Amino acid sequence: MKFAAACCLIVLPHAILAQPLLMPIPANVGLRPGHLAIASSFKVLADPRLHASTERFLARLAGQTGLPIVPGPTPTLTVECRDPGPAYPTLGEDESYVLDIDDRGARLAAPTFTGVQRGLETFLQLVVPGAGGFEAPAIHIDDKPRFPWRGIMLDVSRHWMPVPVIERNLDAMAAVKMNVFHWHLADDQGFRVESMRFPKLQQLASDGHFYTQTEVRHIVEYARERRIRVVPEFDMPGHSTALLAAYPEFASAPGPYTIERTWGIFQPTLDPTREETYTFLDSLIGEMASLFADPYFHIGGDEVDDTQWKNSASIQAFAKQHNLATSDDLQAWFNSRVQRIVAKYGKTTVGWDEVLHPGLAPGTVIQSWRGQDALAVAARKGFRGLLSFGYYLDHLQPTSFHYANDPLTGATASLDAEAAQRILGGEACMWTEYTSAETVDSRIWPRAAAIAERLWSPAGATDPASMYARMERVSRLLDWTGVKHRTDYLPQLERLTGGAPTGGLQALADVSEATGIEVRRDARKYTSLVPLNRFVDAVPPESETVRHLEAAASTRSEPAMEELRAAFTGWTINRVTVAELQTLSTNLAVCGVIGLEALRYLKTGKPAPAGWVAKQNQTLDGMKPPCAEVMLAASRPVRILLTALATANR
Ligand code: ACM
Repeated sequence: MKFAAACCLIVLPHAILAQPLLMPIPANVGLRPGHLAIASSFKVLADPRLHASTERFLARLAGQTGLPIVPGPTPTLTVECRDPGPAYPTLGEDESYVLDIDDRGARLAAPTFTGVQRGLETFLQLVVPGAGGFEAPAIHIDDKPRFPWRGIMLDVSRHWMPVPVIERNLDAMAAVKMNVFHWHLADDQGFRVESMRFPKLQQLASDGHFYTQTEVRHIVEYARERRIRVVPEFDMPGHSTALLAAYPEFASAPGPYTIERTWGIFQPTLDPTREETYTFLDSLIGEMASLFADPYFHIGGDEVDDTQWKNSASIQAFAKQHNLATSDDLQAWFNSRVQRIVAKYGKTTVGWDEVLHPGLAPGTVIQSWRGQDALAVAARKGFRGLLSFGYYLDHLQPTSFHYANDPLTGATASLDAEAAQRILGGEACMWTEYTSAETVDSRIWPRAAAIAERLWSPAGATDPASMYARMERVSRLLDWTGVKHRTDYLPQLERLTGGAPTGGLQALADVSEATGIEVRRDARKYTSLVPLNRFVDAVPPESETVRHLEAAASTRSEPAMEELRAAFTGWTINRVTVAELQTLSTNLAVCGVIGLEALRYLKTGKPAPAGWVAKQNQTLDGMKPPCAEVMLAASRPVRILLTALATANR
């Protein structure tokens, strides 16, 4: 009984696998015969300054195994680290570690405390249930990251994300060795940090949803302990409606302004031509910069709507006087002033693609949402860069799409070695137009774990099948960090049934996939006040159930056919009461009927009647458009069977 919960994970002992199920996959792994038993007496011997880290490690080990850990007299894991490294995690610091496990004990050696932290996370992923209890395989791991900047950007402006959301996501980031939390703190929909100097920001620009300065410092410290840097972003001169709702005097056109409740690119823009704007920004940036230990400070700079600039006689006169022919030139002027302010407070500027103008200060980091081409241009000009194009989690694309996207592919692949060094890594971006504090975990995890692997692991780790197998396991391990991407699923569905058993609703949810920003923005009028509590919000972006059924349909072994038959039969009788899901539910039943029919033809070897396969494919084509803002992924395994039938009939 002791291992019942863990056994449900169907985790195979690593020893019978060619490689352990780790994510990110380490640079070098060598499995050996044997294993280390994980017992309640598990003890870590480490430098006392690592006490908080090792306590967290033991708490996670206890969670994962259910073992009441009471460390015994003999160390199970000995940590060797002579030099702690910098107190605050530093870009490019040594994060390497070497982990050796045999049947007598484990040894983790690292040149810095950061390396220790990374190695402890690997150890936790190695623990599996074995024949005699939990165990870790005998192994030698020699690991280090490929890129030094591996982050997640979280937009807390469009939807408010309270402190516990940030904390648990930092724990999950640490579990997959991500090391930068990019905190998008100000946008049109809210300015989210308390300011002592400009209190109207929290009074008029936040709906009361802001982090106190104590909370900001707490998060910076919480992240530091997990060896994660925190890079704040205050988007300017565009995307600043909320700020201008509080201080309209710095806008390029007379206000008043109100907090935006919808999504898009809006006109309110800081006035780049008035000294008062820079006096204000100097004071605000000075105050905000003092809250963050990181030497990098993000000024946004994306998507500036220049309508107010074009319509202002005084701004146009200023532009003419200073030979600023275009709005881009005006933004470049603004950036260089802001950049000097940022530098005055000891920080280096980070900005989105749009800040790349002639005259940009050397050392600036360009974060590219436009792609590898833009990143290559910046790198050739001597700027360091981060890739975020292809890592937009809000599009709810399949993990394999993100996994195939490498910072050094396409235009960046042809950079010379020196320019390639300037590509620091990347960040997954979690924009939150259609994501609330309740749904954000399932939009980030587990997909971000595969992006973490892309940025940590050797470039050659590209096999999607291996990625999915490892991600499925790590997704479950992430439960023990506190993120709720899996545990909130059922309660969200049960809310829709009014607390009744979910039955058919869960069957439908298991084979549906939520759509991302493109579909949702066209589906209905959303604002920040529209609740995100529907079926689409509960459903994850990618169906694990369907992935398994697709594998079964491709295999078509006898057990696989049985698995498919059971699933299809369930689909034919699915019933849901939620009004907007009736079509989806009917479509699922139709998928089940077609699937059962296809299985019958395949089993008997009897050819399907002429035109039958084409007709079924046509029916499935009719299910392609999103319905209730979700895609019915259930059709995919059925299509695989239809293709097999068509081939067999030929
Ligand atoms: C962006 O997506 N506008 C950075």
